[in-house]
Amino acid sequence: MMKIVASSLSLSLLVVACSGTSTGTGTDGGAARAPTIAKLTPNTAAGKTLYTDKCSICHGNDGKSGSAARNVAEIAANSQTRSIEQVISGSSEMPSFANMTDQQIADVLGYLKSLK
Ligand code: HEC
Repeated sequence: MMKIVASSLSLSLLVVACSGTSTGTGTDGGAARAPTIAKLTPNTAAGKTLYTDKCSICHGNDGKSGSAARNVAEIAANSQTRSIEQVISGSSEMPSFANMTDQQIADVLGYLKSLK
């Protein structure tokens, strides 16, 4: 009996540990994933598709216009970590994209930088 309790406990701890790092939920989700994402090689063609689909509605096709009229291409090139955190955690004005994979975030930011 004790053995069953102990093994199911360690299993649930494992699930908690995994979901904490892979989904990026919570306030520090972006900071935790940023170092891994920063090391990936972006596929800018895939990033363009993602950007057009999810980001251009607010940031414009050029990354400089749209309702969020800030030069996000410039920001992404200058502060990789901050941009990754913004995409994962969002802000009061920008939705969170924590459900994107690490590679997708690297791709979309790689494309943004190419607009600079
Ligand atoms: C609903 C509108 C909206 C969408 C969709 C959106 N953003 Fe944003 N984003 C904003 C606004 C508004 C700001 C500036 C204000 C702020 O920082 O909260 C911003 C800021 C940023 C910044 C700059 C953060 C900084 O350091 O100042 C980056 C980088 C960024 N967005 C990337 C993206 C990417 C990549 C996507 C698509 C995956 C995306 N955004 C989708 C509204 C949006």
